[in-house]
Amino acid sequence: MSGFKDASRPETETGLQYHLMIKPGDIAKYVLLPGDPERVPIIARFWDLAWHVASHREYVTYSGYYKGVFISATSTGIGAPSTAIALEELARVGAEVFIRVGTTGALRRDVSIGDVVISTGAVRLEGTSRHYVMPEYPAVASYDVVLALIDAAESLGVRYHVGLTASSDSFYVGQERPGFRDYLPPFQRGLIDYLRSVNVLNFEMEASLIFTLANIYRLRAGAVCAAIANRETGEFKPGAGVEDAIRVANEAVKILYEWDEERRKIGKAHLTPDIIRRLTWR
Ligand code: URA
Repeated sequence: MSGFKDASRPETETGLQYHLMIKPGDIAKYVLLPGDPERVPIIARFWDLAWHVASHREYVTYSGYYKGVFISATSTGIGAPSTAIALEELARVGAEVFIRVGTTGALRRDVSIGDVVISTGAVRLEGTSRHYVMPEYPAVASYDVVLALIDAAESLGVRYHVGLTASSDSFYVGQERPGFRDYLPPFQRGLIDYLRSVNVLNFEMEASLIFTLANIYRLRAGAVCAAIANRETGEFKPGAGVEDAIRVANEAVKILYEWDEERRKIGKAHLTPDIIRRLTWR
């Protein structure tokens, strides 16, 4: 690999990014972020046209068109540290709206296996966002991205829940699953009950980092995750609801694009109910 000169800004003169191997022009404004690299081509199967952009380490990137809208998908790998690298490099080449498409463990019985959870915000149980900003800084999703995800789920007839998520650095002990030899320290015991009691819907590992960075950088973000686990009933079903989460995320991009275009045409800084009404009546 050559052409990388500056250790504090590892990109080439053409803007090629060190980890993701993407450059300006490769990526759409709207980017879906699954954790799993194998999920990227699956997401792209729903597009009218798709091409492979790059694969390097855990980062696989495709771009294409969904219902005429330029769209990209990049895998983040598992957890906040690798997700921060993805978001940093995607933003540098022009991405502006990030939608995590993942899997999750539901904390409540009424979130059935295969349902999707749309996050309005996330408890920052991960450590990466603390490198960026104080712990009191909120990890909130963008209201228009949340609304587009809800609209997409409604129009596709997908069962969804909306609320707060907890993002952990740890799949096992940090989500109150016993570690090797049943290790579970006293300070993790009762975590699920506690989070449930303060109205948290689900556990996953990336949303709070994505929301925090998107807010700091004045970008937009949301998350839709398929419940493959239920921590109240004990059920675990890999893959359940993943296709629904993908369909919802893709459709949300089309909806957001239409709202954004209308907003731009009439010169509004924010999405308003009137913009949605104008498009509905058309
Ligand atoms: N992802 C998580 O982080 N936790 C789960 O329980 C399932 C998916």
